[in-house]
Formats: sequence, C-alpha cells, structure tokens
Amino acid sequence: MSFGKKIRMSRIFRGEPARTVMLALDHGMALGPMKGIERPRELLNSVGKYVDSIMLNKGILTNCGDPSLGAGVVLRISGASTIAGPDLTAERITTTLESAIRLGADAVAVSIFVGTPNEHASIEALSLLADECDRFGIPLLAVTALGKDREKGFDPRYLALAVRVAAEMGADMIKTYFCEDGFEKVIESAAGIPVVIAGGPKMDNDISVLETAQKAVKSGCRGVDMGRNVWQNEDPIAMLKALRAIIHENASAKDALLQYWK
Ligand code: R5P
Repeated sequence: MSFGKKIRMSRIFRGEPARTVMLALDHGMALGPMKGIERPRELLNSVGKYVDSIMLNKGILTNCGDPSLGAGVVLRISGASTIAGPDLTAERITTTLESAIRLGADAVAVSIFVGTPNEHASIEALSLLADECDRFGIPLLAVTALGKDREKGFDPRYLALAVRVAAEMGADMIKTYFCEDGFEKVIESAAGIPVVIAGGPKMDNDISVLETAQKAVKSGCRGVDMGRNVWQNEDPIAMLKALRAIIHENASAKDALLQYWK
C-alpha cells in the first residue's frame, strides 16, 4: 500500500488495534430524506465528535459538513439510481477521483451488486476504479450491496463470495453484513483486507445492535459503518459511545449498554 493510502487509512481506522466507528449517511442519494437524516447538518454537528469517520455523498459533505469535524471522510462516488426508479442496483460512478480529492476525501466508496443483473457492470467499475485509486493514493471502500434480495444478507456463502470478489478486484476496505453463522469465514474471505459491517434496517432493541458489533469484532471485523441503527436511535450519541466502547475498548455489549443508557 502506498504512503498516501496509509496516511488516509489512518484517518479512518484509529487506535490500536486500528478500527473504525464509521457513520453512514449516504442513504438519501437513493432513498431520500429518511427518518433520522432529514437534517444532516444538525446530525453531523451533534454526533461528529463521536465517530472516527463518516460516509456520505459530496452534496451533503460540502453543504452540511464542517471542515473542522475531525472525522475521516469516506466519499460515496457511486449511485444515480433511486427507490422510485426501475432498478436500485443500476448504479454509475457519480464523482471523479479528482473531485473527491479536491473535496478532502480520505477514501472513496462504491457499491457492487454480486448476484444481480448489474454485477458485471458494478464489479468492472470497482476494478477499474481500484487502478485509479492506486494512481492517486486514495483508499477504496467496496460496499457489497444486496439489491432487493435481503435474504442473501444472512447467507455466509453469499457474503463470502461478495467479499472475496471485492478483495480480488483491489478494494482496500470492504463493507458487508454481519451473519450469525460463519461470519469468520466471511472475514477470512477478505484475505486480510479490513472488513466493516453495515447495520441494515433498524433493529428492535439496542442490545441487538451492540451484540452484533461485539460478535463482528470478535470474528475479526475492523469496525462498523452503520447508519439507521445510529441515527434512527432515540439517542444516537449514546449508541455511538456504546459502539466506540465495543470497537475500541473491547467492551461487552451488556457493559456498553449499562454504561451509556442510564
Ligand atoms: C449501503 O449501500 C448504504 O449506502 C449504507 O451506507 C449502508 O447500508 C449502511 O447503512 P445501514 O447501517 O443503515 O445499513
């Protein structure tokens, strides 16, 4: 890995061992102003100091982000399809690397849709982008996305396939989903490339979110890149503090819950 990539990675993965609490708020590009991200500026201002990194699109970064925030910036640069359109998996690259670097991004993120009719295009885009990212010294996060078939998110064989594809195509970090059985195999399939987990739809209770993070970290995951389970929580700051305790201090889910929800 080049020196530039290493510096940028260190702004995202922090501490020893290097892990990340990444806040995802890129959802609006496809799903609109969901509950919890209606006012991104206020959200970023209130939770910014409790995250290591943020994952978002350029418009929200430049209009609602405070340059003094201190969090690593993972700029999403794929999208261009919405929930109102014919196919959410038909993404395109939406921002050049030159723009991403000018905007101060520490990494860029694109989705791949393994197992959908758009797998070919999205994997090819990832692979070609990986070459460009090497040229500019900017890390690339591959988001292994599910499309409509949410059930795949529980299948370790599918998740391992998608993660390995991302690793093979040159991703520097990979986002996947946590599965109860066989998650170690999913991590192993990344061949040493750092893996973080998405949270998925809001879970029914806080302890489930924290247990997911704890189990994922225990399996070798390098952090979370969660959205809805943070900003749809009644107390996003408590959730972030609890996730930090698990990810950076190896706290148990139960202890983290007891400490931050009084
Ligand atoms: C994934 O493609 C989305 O862009 C989100 O960044 C990701 O799903 C993480 O958010 P959540 O924890 O809400 O699933």
